[in-house]
Formats: sequence, structure tokens, C-alpha cells
Amino acid sequence: MLTSSTRLLSGVNAVNDAAQLLLQGECVALPTETVYGLAADAADPEAVGKIFDAKGRPRNHPLIVHIADVSQLPSWAKDIPESAYKLAAAFWPGPLTLLLKKADLVNNTVTGGLETIGLRVPSHPLFLAVLQASGKGLAAPSANRYKQLSPTISEQVVAGLNGRIAAVLEGGACEHGLESTIIDLVSDTPRVLRAGPITQVELEAVLGVPVAFPEQHIEVVPGNVKAHYQPNTPLTIVSSALLAQQLDGASNTHYVVWSNELVSASKALESKQYTVLANNAAQYGKALYATLFHIDKLGFTRIVVEKPPCAAEWRAVNDRLSRAAS
Ligand code: TXA
Ligand code: MG
Repeated sequence: MLTSSTRLLSGVNAVNDAAQLLLQGECVALPTETVYGLAADAADPEAVGKIFDAKGRPRNHPLIVHIADVSQLPSWAKDIPESAYKLAAAFWPGPLTLLLKKADLVNNTVTGGLETIGLRVPSHPLFLAVLQASGKGLAAPSANRYKQLSPTISEQVVAGLNGRIAAVLEGGACEHGLESTIIDLVSDTPRVLRAGPITQVELEAVLGVPVAFPEQHIEVVPGNVKAHYQPNTPLTIVSSALLAQQLDGASNTHYVVWSNELVSASKALESKQYTVLANNAAQYGKALYATLFHIDKLGFTRIVVEKPPCAAEWRAVNDRLSRAAS
């Protein structure tokens, strides 16, 4: 059963209230350093089922399990390679998800029936506090309805899931604003399944071996579908040069720009039709989903986004934008 009203938890009792609800088998949205996650007790198939119901997510799309620290890895994974411990030492707590073979006891609901499991230790102090207080591993996909934008502020969680989950723990704006990097350590050579805040170069520096970074999206991952992370307003990506010619402020269009030239040009035009994002991948990524969420409410019939740079640090941003556009 879904709950009829959703509580917003903040203040001194918030962490304990969230932990209590999770121990009662409820779903609670919690802030992480990447995006808000929709958490439930990963060892309780009924509680995990509520995540799928609340999101409207197909049951064969596996969930990431969040743990309090690396010592809990063997409870969830088996045949753990040395590379997992190296990466955990370097990047946990933090925005890196390790794909490993699942431990035999892990229930199939959480892995969507797969023999593998995604695991990470998040760094957000409130999420870590809830992990400690509940003593559980917490399954948590992004706290959005299926195929919608991942939420990076609590308002966005409430807009999508109000009345469908027990509570949202208020944690302010998420630090990275884009989902964790996922690295597959089950395949013959390590490969990135989803670009994110931890880059290929950083992973290779720690592992000392090449890490594959498929240009195309990996379709073998259920849930890693191309049409994902979409705003309701149709979005197109246009090069800086082309956009400069079109910057006429067509009244039905909202523009999202970042380059100096277009930022100055847009300032000369009607401001409500432009959003300026930073010429810096980390800041741009942090603001992206919340920006699209806000633009969606303004009633434009299209969003035109200036194509970001192609440099490696922009990879996660370009990946999410290309899916928002499809
Ligand atoms: O930053 C994040 O990773 C956020 C926060 C809440 O931790 N979580 C998140 O979860 O983005 P979700 O479910 O929205 O995206 C997880 C992705 C999905 O594409 C899913 O298919 C993939 O990870 N995934 C999870 N477990 C997997 C598995 N066993 N095998 C293959 N892919 C898996
Ligand atoms: Mg998601």
C-alpha cells in the first residue's frame, strides 16, 4: 500500500524518524551527495517492492544498495576482487557505485533478478547517519518517478512522489547533482557503465589498468535506458555557433547557455527566457536537474540548450543532456 500523505522531516529528530520509518518497512527519500535517493530496507523484499510501486519502475530494473562502510561489502557481495577494495579506499564514502557478484543470501527483488549487485557508501552526512541509526543496508534509486528527472532538491522529490512515500528527509541541495559513476568489476576488464562525478582518469590512476568507457550507452543494464532523465518540455541541444544565430528570444522557447558570448548576448534580451549555467563542469552538473525542473514549470513549449564542451570532465553532463533530449 502507498501512503496517503508524505512527511517532510527536518530538525533534531529527523534522522531517527527516518530510521524508524525504514525499520517499519516504509520508503523514505534521503539526500545523498549525488541526488536524492528513495530508500528502503534492502533485506526486506516487501519494503523494496514499495520503491518500485512509488516510482512506477519496472521490477527488473536493479537497485543500488547503500552501506555504512566497506566492512559490510561481504554481506552483500561475493568473490570480491582486490580492485573493489582499492576503489573503496580511494573513493568511499563518495559517488562511486561498484558492480559486483551478489552474495547468495541477497534477495532477488533488490537486484531485479540479476546475479550482480551495485553497492556504494554515500558521503552525505544525513544518509550516513540514517544508515548508522537503522543498522540496515538501504536500497535507493533516485527519488523520481520512472523516466523523470532525478531530484537534487527536496521540493523536486515532493513534486514527484508526494502521497506515494512515507517521508522526505530535508537535506538541502545535493553537492554533485548528477548520479554516481558506476564501474563494472564483474566483466573481464573494468568498465564504466554510467558516467558520473568520478572520472575515467581518476579510476585508472587508482587501479593502474585501463578502464573501458564505452561511447555508447550500455544496453545490457536494465534501467540504463536512453530515454531517461527527461523534463516534460521537449529539449534540444544546439551548438554555440548555431544558437548564436537563433538567439532571437522566440517567445515559446527557453534557452540554457554557458559560453561567455551567449551569456552576454542573452543578457541583452529578455531575462526570463534564459538560464545561464556555469562554464565549469562541476557547477553546471550540480545545477542541471534543478534548472530543468524549474524551467519545466514556466510553461515554455521547448528548451534549447547550448551544447557543453566535449572535454572529459563534461562527460557526465553530456551523457545526461543527451538522454534528456531523446
Ligand atoms: O548516485 C546514485 O547512484 C543515486 C543515489 C541515490 O545513490 N542512485 C541512482 O540509482 O542513481 P538509480 O536506480 O536511479 O540508477 C541506478 C542505475 C540503473 O541504471 C540500474 O540499472 C543500474 O544502476 N544498476 C543497479 N544495479 C545494477 C546491477 N546489478 N547490474 C547492472 N546495473 C545495475
Ligand atoms: Mg534514476
